[in-house]
Amino acid sequence: MQLTIENVGKKYRRDLWGLHDFSLTLEPGALGLLGPNGAGKSTLMRILATITKPTTGQVTWNGTNVAQSPNELREVLGYLPQDFGVYPNLNAIEFLDYLAAMKGLDAKTARVRIDELIQVVNLVDVAKRPLGGYSGGMKQRVGIAQALLNDPQLLIVDEPTAGLDPEERVRFRNLLSDLSGNRIVILSTHIVSDVEATATHIALIRKGQLLQHAPPEKLLNRIEGKVWEWTVSSEELTTLKQQYLVSGTIRKSDGVLVRAVSDIQPAPQAQSVAPRLEDAYLHFVQERNA
Ligand SMILES: Nc1ncnc2c1ncn2[C@@H]1O[C@H](COP(=O)(O)OP(=O)(O)OP(=O)(O)O)[C@@H](O)[C@H]1O
Ligand SMILES: [Mg+2]
Repeated sequence: MQLTIENVGKKYRRDLWGLHDFSLTLEPGALGLLGPNGAGKSTLMRILATITKPTTGQVTWNGTNVAQSPNELREVLGYLPQDFGVYPNLNAIEFLDYLAAMKGLDAKTARVRIDELIQVVNLVDVAKRPLGGYSGGMKQRVGIAQALLNDPQLLIVDEPTAGLDPEERVRFRNLLSDLSGNRIVILSTHIVSDVEATATHIALIRKGQLLQHAPPEKLLNRIEGKVWEWTVSSEELTTLKQQYLVSGTIRKSDGVLVRAVSDIQPAPQAQSVAPRLEDAYLHFVQERNA
């Protein structure tokens, strides 16, 4: 099982490339796509889901060019778009049943699968209520369920945890870990902690370009010795934020405990601390603004 992305670019307007010269090879596991708003995450996912054609480059699924024969990929694809919508008058079971029929699942298989998925996404109690009355997080869980209907080999979920409460977010993370063993899972998020524990690889993306692609622990290694903590007064904090890449602050009785990423020791009292993924994200994604 292999998904290869070679020099893929997407041009939206004369001077706007949503994605530029993007290359990556994926094998079973979970890839976390991290990047700020407008980085190109959804553009990449739409290209991989064969909703949009790339302007340049090519995507191949197990050696087959996806632009030429999209069906091989589509048959094994589960996709949750960022702007997923539901039919308000249908309940969760009816809605999933409808989509299962469209995906070509036979009625019996669909029934069993839908039953399972309703439990997996924790919607048993509301499964017979019209979707129009669901909260944002509940709709999102229906979206996750529909992406899993055909037991996909390639699962692409665009901001799947948007709107989920902490409990459901944890539940979803565990689900992704379980799923990623024998399939390719790609998820995008702004929330670093969503991918910290579950992603086997992280791709950091900004302005349509791939900045880093590595397992989380490798990304952490790359900023080893560059993360510092020290206490300053509240007055000093504003200037400090202009000077350094501050990744966290905690108010204390004797001032503010600052956490920052810096190549050199920012202050004599600053202690070197173990990097977290959040620090790596800031370092690589905001490097040039620092
Ligand atoms: N259909 C479109 N037409 C024109 N420009 C687009 C279109 N879709 C995206 N863009 C532009 O392409 C760039 C990448 O957008 P994209 O939606 O892929 O980013 P993203 O990383 O998914 O952002 P977000 O975190 O906000 O979802 C942005 O500059 C965006 O304005
Ligand atoms: Mg997006």
